[in-house]
Amino acid sequence: MCGIVGYIGTKKASPILINGLIRLEYRGYDSAGISTIEKDGLSIMKDKGRVNNLYNLPGIDDLEGTIGIAHTRWATHGKPSKENSHPHMDNSKAFSVVHNGIIENYNELKKFLTDNGYTFYSQTDTEVIPNLIHYYYEKDNTNDDNKFLKAVKNACLDLKGSFALEVICKDFPENMIVVRKDSPLVIGKGNGENYVSSDIPAILSFTKDFYLLNDLEFVILSKNDAKFYDKDLNMIEKETKTIEWNASSAEKDGFEDFMLKEIYEQPTAIRETIGSKLNENSKCEFDELNFTKEYLNSINKIYIIACGTAMHAGLVAKNVMEKLCKIQTEVDIASEFRYREPLVDKNTLSIFISQSGETADTIAALKLCKEKGAKTIAISNVIGSSITREAHYSIYTHAGPEIAVASTKAYTSQVVLLTLLAIYFAEILGNSKDIIENLKKDILDLPKKVDETLKDSEIIKNFAKKVYQEHDIFFLGRGIDETVARESALKLKEISYIHADSYPAGELKHGPIALIEKDITVIGIMTDPKLVDKTVSNIQEVISRGAKTLIVTNQKIDSKMFDLVIKIPETNAFISPILSVIPLQLFAYYISKEKGLDVDKPRNLAKSVTVE
Ligand code: M6R
Repeated sequence: MCGIVGYIGTKKASPILINGLIRLEYRGYDSAGISTIEKDGLSIMKDKGRVNNLYNLPGIDDLEGTIGIAHTRWATHGKPSKENSHPHMDNSKAFSVVHNGIIENYNELKKFLTDNGYTFYSQTDTEVIPNLIHYYYEKDNTNDDNKFLKAVKNACLDLKGSFALEVICKDFPENMIVVRKDSPLVIGKGNGENYVSSDIPAILSFTKDFYLLNDLEFVILSKNDAKFYDKDLNMIEKETKTIEWNASSAEKDGFEDFMLKEIYEQPTAIRETIGSKLNENSKCEFDELNFTKEYLNSINKIYIIACGTAMHAGLVAKNVMEKLCKIQTEVDIASEFRYREPLVDKNTLSIFISQSGETADTIAALKLCKEKGAKTIAISNVIGSSITREAHYSIYTHAGPEIAVASTKAYTSQVVLLTLLAIYFAEILGNSKDIIENLKKDILDLPKKVDETLKDSEIIKNFAKKVYQEHDIFFLGRGIDETVARESALKLKEISYIHADSYPAGELKHGPIALIEKDITVIGIMTDPKLVDKTVSNIQEVISRGAKTLIVTNQKIDSKMFDLVIKIPETNAFISPILSVIPLQLFAYYISKEKGLDVDKPRNLAKSVTVE
């Protein structure tokens, strides 16, 4: 969580930094701040609340500095307030620092520094960092050019936890030092200028050439150069990576919100994800993996591990993995998996899904599986993200930048990619040939059918208008539809703040039906021909207790029974979630709009959860 941006070049830094912060606001919006080097030393401006508050501070336009760092905060230690806002300075006001991550041993460091005469003005963990840098800087009696770098390095080696840092120093007005450990940070290479950011889209309009950093690599940036060092301060070489994303894909393109734009980008996202692995009449190709039949036969279990929506994509994939590959597949929440001593060994294949590639719990679960000898595959939407650098193998969804906190196009692209992965395994194993041929055709037809599904938005908007003031909404489904019920409930609660719950429809009468009362809204999803009659019966049970019902289905059902039926195109049951989730993404979106909420930046949430 938290977003950081940096600029060093010949232009005024402040407008560039504020522009970057606006794009990174999805990572946290409790406060925002900026620090530049001005003619008379370091300047800091910061305020509680959104970047807009910072932008409106008197004097912000007068900043002339061409080097600066900036931060948008998702509060962890200390309440959202001006004092706790970044940047933070050391007591002597020589160093200014922004930080994304958590310093786990900050109490211990604070005590050490207090004992050495330092005073603290905030409740943050971050404030120890500039003071620790100052401590090492003062201890160093040399005057060599690397004095600033050495102080930052020594301070970082004392830190436990995660950090992405930008540091500027009044004595080195031509340099900025950046470093990361377990928190995201990229460097954008410009012409006579360099940029730093927590993610690529925030600075994509300035450059397409990026340096990606590994843990504890230190960088001295100047306007014309970037010098890289390992943790022993040996110089290292780094190549830039060119990112093909289009800068306009990180803009709203005329849509009111990023979420709506991203919902409508799903046909393209899915088409591109399919196109990267499958062509008509061909085998599924995953050149990055190159797995053999012998290896796949040796697998005792597949674990799919992720958080939130990405985990829901895993739940969809369990079905297709087990059916096509005949390998037991378990899906786990990363933060739970890590702490329950999972049975993983060298014959386990573990797959980690993360749109951002920066989710701390998912990365930690991956590290655990590696330690236990398992092969690891990362599925991410962000090239070069942390998780892809940890995993043995990485494969990518091609959804383009996803900015809205609520994940939409990443989820459907993940489901597509996982289905293709299951096909790839099954083709090597020589399993399920007939099913695969039909499934491939259905996959290739998906972009067209997603387009069709998106056409129902007006009907959904009208239904949302009727129910947006409700306090509880329930989602029911069976089999694969139950996974969509979970995802839809998550979507609704995160952006509308309505209590939403999902249940396997058959489980209703074992308890949850006690919650059903007159006029409550229940949403049913029915796409599996084998289960549709059973689900209809379960929905009847709630109708007879007075519930209003919205049904999403591709089956022939008696529409008169329900308040609203959204028909979606028919497709293979394995991939039906890709279509059935879409009306419910729109439903959540329109409810949030009716309530006048900030759809893209829901309260208390951040796009990538880089703390555990
Ligand atoms: O970047 P990741 O896919 O690892 O993120 C995982 C979850 O934090 C994320 O899916 C979250 O649940 C979304 N806000 C849901 O819309």
